[in-house]
Amino acid sequence: MKRILIIGGGAMGSAFSVPCIDNNHKVFITEPYSQRFIKSLSSKNKFHSGLKLNLSKKLIFKKYSKELLLEKYDLIVVALSLTGIDFIAKELKKSKVKSPILVLTKGLKYEKQNKNIMTISQTLLKSNPKLNVSVLKGPCLAKELSRRCQTSVIIANKNIQIAKLLGKMISTKYYLIEYSKDVVGVEICSAIKNIYSMIIGSGLSLNKSSSLFQKSLLEMKHITKSLKGKKDTVLSLAGIGDLYVSAAGGRNSKMGNYLGQGFTFQRAKKTFMANDTVEGEQLVREIGPFILKKFNSRKIPLMFKMIRAILKNKKFFI
Ligand SMILES: NC(=O)c1ccc[n+]([C@@H]2O[C@H](COP(=O)([O-])OP(=O)(O)OC[C@H]3O[C@@H](n4cnc5c(N)ncnc54)[C@H](O)[C@@H]3O)[C@@H](O)[C@H]2O)c1
Repeated sequence: MKRILIIGGGAMGSAFSVPCIDNNHKVFITEPYSQRFIKSLSSKNKFHSGLKLNLSKKLIFKKYSKELLLEKYDLIVVALSLTGIDFIAKELKKSKVKSPILVLTKGLKYEKQNKNIMTISQTLLKSNPKLNVSVLKGPCLAKELSRRCQTSVIIANKNIQIAKLLGKMISTKYYLIEYSKDVVGVEICSAIKNIYSMIIGSGLSLNKSSSLFQKSLLEMKHITKSLKGKKDTVLSLAGIGDLYVSAAGGRNSKMGNYLGQGFTFQRAKKTFMANDTVEGEQLVREIGPFILKKFNSRKIPLMFKMIRAILKNKKFFI
């Protein structure tokens, strides 16, 4: 029995507790930010308002504190949204945390100091180079994982043995794990697919969306290679796998659909999705200005159009 701490009691962090508990590990979960999730996780029946199910009574809720991170675990899982990454990077700075860390969060950061894009694992390592960080990405809807639907994901670490060790700890009959050494490529693909699923969602017909899907893959290869990932990683679960699930449904493709109908981003957000987080939009705001400046618009025309549509609130026409 291993000890696992999950940081982030949102949909994904809570769903991730299911395979961990099915593997008979002692699983702790903590929530540093949201009162709504604290209420769900500390309630008697552990009904999770995001997942709409009762989590296992074996899941142990712990109040968040910096000291909690210093206890001995076999694994610490980061399942915060992208906006929580600066917070946890700060908490881990100069910390003596020895446990391996597995990052589920998807996204990229723009680093003002070096005027460059950084992945989440790079952001955590910059704050504390001694951390042992792996990443887990891929097509995984939290609601489906929490109901034990078959799910395949990929763990990346330059040291593949560490990745395999973690995979062995968490895999089950329904949670299947693949491995990669291309940490950067896996992180880039799993982030930019949120923008490309908006682009595919704008197609409005299957015929047009399919052609946008194919062109999105070519652009993803270009971006991944330019940012020092391996272009073949686009064909992995973190790339095409995750792009499929996001384009087939979800908030990014829904927003894309409104953009395809001719609404501007602001209008669509205010009218139809006021309370929804659109991760693709957040990523555009984080890395869009950098992409417009550093990339060639002829190589990635769809990405340029989507960035301009969101940043300048222009109509999105392809
Ligand atoms: N790797 C995977 O298999 C996988 C699958 C699905 C989702 N995800 C990713 O997991 C992340 C969380 O997704 P979710 O569906 O659980 O979202 P959610 O909205 O249900 O939960 C978000 C979590 O982030 C925390 N948070 C939000 N803002 C914060 C802040 N400013 N400071 C600190 N914490 C903050 C919330 O309290 C909560 O714990 C996203 O990045 C998502 O893309 C990963």
